[in-house]
Amino acid sequence: MRYARMPIEVESPEEYGYARIRWNLSESSVADQKLSDLGLAIPDMPLLYGEHRGRARLRELIAAEGAGLKADDVLVTTGAAGALFIVATSLLSADDHLVVVRPNYATNLETPRAIGCAVTHVDLAFEDGFRLDPERIAAALTPKTRLVSVTCPHNPTGVMLSEAELCALAEITARHGCRLLVDETYRDLSFAGPLPPAASLGGHVISVASLSKAYGVPGIRIGWLVSRDPALQEIFLAASEQISICGSVMDEWVAEQILEKRQAILTPRLAEMRRRLETVAAWMAGEDRLEWVWPSGGVVCFPRMVGEPAGGTEGFYRRLLEDHGAYVGPGHWFERPDSYFRIGYGWPTADELDAGLAAISAALRG
Ligand SMILES: Cc1ncc(COP(=O)(O)O)c(C=O)c1O
Repeated sequence: MRYARMPIEVESPEEYGYARIRWNLSESSVADQKLSDLGLAIPDMPLLYGEHRGRARLRELIAAEGAGLKADDVLVTTGAAGALFIVATSLLSADDHLVVVRPNYATNLETPRAIGCAVTHVDLAFEDGFRLDPERIAAALTPKTRLVSVTCPHNPTGVMLSEAELCALAEITARHGCRLLVDETYRDLSFAGPLPPAASLGGHVISVASLSKAYGVPGIRIGWLVSRDPALQEIFLAASEQISICGSVMDEWVAEQILEKRQAILTPRLAEMRRRLETVAAWMAGEDRLEWVWPSGGVVCFPRMVGEPAGGTEGFYRRLLEDHGAYVGPGHWFERPDSYFRIGYGWPTADELDAGLAAISAALRG
């Protein structure tokens, strides 16, 4: 493995310093929650090694989302990031081939690179509405392809696959005899309702998700992977045990309490996120220096500049931060040109979002 830090982490707001940012539109989750916001107080509990797969009730709640899934199909991990690392390092070696969509959340691109496997990137185009045609995946497969990796709802575009497209991907990979990884970290933030958990579509399909984004609790580092293949699950468990034996018993307790109230949390949150998206859409309609693809999930969108701002993209990002105190996710976080950037509309308050959008408009004009 050849590890290299990823720009999205080096330049993340928490590494840059939250106190140095006034209007933070760079996040990809809803606002960070406190225990009290969630009506929780951590009880006294033994701080022992927990069940290696994760608390049974927590895994049951995760499995309940998909027809035919059971608690033992679930492995609780250190965030979705931990799950993605386990999947990539368990399935890929330097001799293998991976097909992965781009742009993408950086770990989906970087861990395979660190492993040194052959990679075919299927680039999503603005002109296609960032849609993924499953036939492009089929065309990229080789006899050495071990894994196909997609993200839905997609980060940074917020675009979703249709259920038919997801099923087509499951069929194409089954026919080819390789695995399909679907990063579903934003699944609970799907405006027209979520797709079935991909792992419910076949034993060769792996779902990865977490509580970080829709529930605003990235600090408890609780994610999971789901696979209905017991032999594969055993390998994933071995990897997880070698990394950390088990997860944090306190984090898992908090996660379980949150998922017990899943719908009560999600219903008002999705309504609020739809309002936020309308705010962004109204601003975009009046902003002739940007164009965008309307997202259908997540709390992010990925507009691109129309023409060059004064001082180029570098001048834009410098003015945005230094003159206006606003922060967004530049294209290079996702291996795209910096004429694209990600706006996260779910994390700031509604007023902060308005101020941040106005700052973008000002910085575009020099
Ligand atoms: C698509 C996607 N997958 C996985 C992650 C990792 O999230 P976490 O480890 O907090 O669950 C992120 C975080 O931005 C993401 O956007």
